[in-house]
Amino acid sequence: MLDSRSRINYPLYWFSMKHIAVLTSGGDAPGMNAAIRAIVRSAAHNEIKVSGVFNGYQGLIEDNFADLNTRSVSNIIQLGGTILRSARSEEFYQPAARARAATALKNRAVDGLLIIGGDGSFRGASQLSIEHEIPVIGIPATIDNDIFGTDLSIGFDTAINVALDFVDRLRDTAASHDRLFLVELMGRDSGNLALHVGLGGGAEAILLPEQNLQGEQAAELVMQAKQPGKSSSIVIVAEGAYEGGAIALQDSIRQRCEFEVRSSILGHVIRGGSPSTQDRVFASRLGYEAVMQLKAGKGSLMIGIDKGETVLVPFEMTCSNVKDIDWHLHHIAQITSQ
Ligand code: F6P
Repeated sequence: MLDSRSRINYPLYWFSMKHIAVLTSGGDAPGMNAAIRAIVRSAAHNEIKVSGVFNGYQGLIEDNFADLNTRSVSNIIQLGGTILRSARSEEFYQPAARARAATALKNRAVDGLLIIGGDGSFRGASQLSIEHEIPVIGIPATIDNDIFGTDLSIGFDTAINVALDFVDRLRDTAASHDRLFLVELMGRDSGNLALHVGLGGGAEAILLPEQNLQGEQAAELVMQAKQPGKSSSIVIVAEGAYEGGAIALQDSIRQRCEFEVRSSILGHVIRGGSPSTQDRVFASRLGYEAVMQLKAGKGSLMIGIDKGETVLVPFEMTCSNVKDIDWHLHHIAQITSQ
């Protein structure tokens, strides 16, 4: 366990951890259930009681809890989605709602909280922790893999492999008809997922939100993707790369292209399904470590992974920094798709 990134101090709590709560927040990600299972069983091993909170922060505000024991998490490691369900709670942005959530935790004698979710969820966690002095630890889970301070988030590996399978299938039909396919993938603000699937699928072009494409630039890149001598072309379009997505982009080039174009929007389908081995192992590891860190009195931080080692990253850092795209990977994708 490293915490060398933590130049900013995080609080240490000195009371003993007898009861913790766990919730899943934001977009669900395959592997969330594996993390819940690891948390419940690691806590039980340390004689810590666990409550599950339903529907993310909304369940905290509404006091929607259930006891979890080692048997309530049987047979869930292989399941996609989240047994605790998830939500994006607008209400939690209000200090009064966070005060209600803190009261619910205090009334139930919960000593610490684990949040499985993305960077938006960690922002709420940080506020709750600071305002009400509750130890909170975040576990990164989002198919976008866009959280600063961790190389990986739970769900990313499964999602890129599911998406890649669809891209390979589209390649078969594209090659049979000499077509260009625009494939839209999730990623409103981040193109990390699109980049990996694009490189892995040999896409002729990959359009990312981070490129900030202006005017005709996106259409130009699509036109260039139809390379002479190739029987098929795949252009990966991250959701946030072009206003209106793949369909709007297809409309914008329809007039001037002499080849056939089709669009396919993969959408939420890549967020579901059974987690990959990597996601199950990773989620189990983070779930266990998160319990151990709460027990050790840590809080206000995310537990992530850096070059294979688990690391502690203060919420202050995850919330105030943006994870950039690996532009070198993008360069490699461009070179190797010629
Ligand atoms: O979970 C992250 C994400 O999948 C983004 O890539 C996507 O833009 C967003 O969720 C979609 O959110 P929702 O499920 O609320 O439509």
